[in-house]
Amino acid sequence: KLKTIARRADLKSYVERTPQLNRLLRQAASRYITGNFRQDGIEVGRKLVAKGYAISIEYIGENTTDATECEAIVAEMKALIIDLGQAGISARVSFDLSHIGLSLHQELAFSNLMKLAEQVQGTGLELFISMEESSKTDDILSVYKQAVSVYPNVGITLQAHLTRTPQDLASLPSPSRIRIVKGAYQESSDYSISRSPELNHRYLELVESAIRQGQRVSIASHDEVIINEVLERGWLSDSKVEIEMLYGIRPELASRMQNIGHPVRIYLPYGHEWYLYLCHRIAEFPPNLYQAVIDMVGN
Ligand code: FDA
Repeated sequence: KLKTIARRADLKSYVERTPQLNRLLRQAASRYITGNFRQDGIEVGRKLVAKGYAISIEYIGENTTDATECEAIVAEMKALIIDLGQAGISARVSFDLSHIGLSLHQELAFSNLMKLAEQVQGTGLELFISMEESSKTDDILSVYKQAVSVYPNVGITLQAHLTRTPQDLASLPSPSRIRIVKGAYQESSDYSISRSPELNHRYLELVESAIRQGQRVSIASHDEVIINEVLERGWLSDSKVEIEMLYGIRPELASRMQNIGHPVRIYLPYGHEWYLYLCHRIAEFPPNLYQAVIDMVGN
């Protein structure tokens, strides 16, 4: 609900039009976002890579409803791919398909994805598709499956909270590159499981199935219950399995894991659409609202 309220266009535009509020919220967002520009993400990435982390990088955005804007976003992502290559950083470029055209036409998202996939060929980079609201799941999986049949270095995110996900996982080609998340969107209880031990159980079942299928798996969670179980089961000794965490969330847990020799990837967002990204982070973990207030007051 918090996210629905925060995402209302009138509220977003009020934030944009109110410089002081905008500045304070931007300050709170800086905990989770590397900066406005790709060089900000690359710079943070370079430091993390030097410390032994792998990185994902995202030019934040979603639900683009203008074809010209989609072209500009694809151009930015191509520039990101070139700059990462020049910096010698072997990253995973993550994005929402709705950022590059899915909200207009599935074909537009597919053709833009193919342009990006063409660009990453031979660079050692990966392209990684995020998962959005369940109303888009079929379209996202369909675009992913078409793309991966041509370009194997495209990966997909699956949400453990949707009851359909075990079937979706079973339908993926092998080997695929899969990120498993709990799910950040509010969904109906008719077809989703809310945060609970049952969801954690489902999450671990999905990870286990994906490993058995021989997939490359990113366990994308900050939940210590999940991570302790992953350690207990020895899954991280499989070189195709890693932990992935969002920049600014549980950094001490990421560093603890990395210090004991486990592969950890940090997800680095950048861009001007920080307001929606901040809303996602607060909605999935409401105590972050207090953190945001502290960040605003403290600065
Ligand atoms: P859970 O929400 O149960 O939290 C467990 C514990 O982790 C909390 O008690 C707290 O300690 C800590 N924690 C979790 N979230 C926090 C936060 N925001 N701030 C501070 N502490 C927090 N979702 C989606 O729907 N589609 C997608 O494509 C992606 N992509 C994605 C990539 C990566 C790399 C990650 C890590 C996550 C995503 N997500 C996502 C978000 C995901 O669905 C989920 O909302 C968050 O990871 C939070 O869920 P946890 O598994 O961490 O557990």
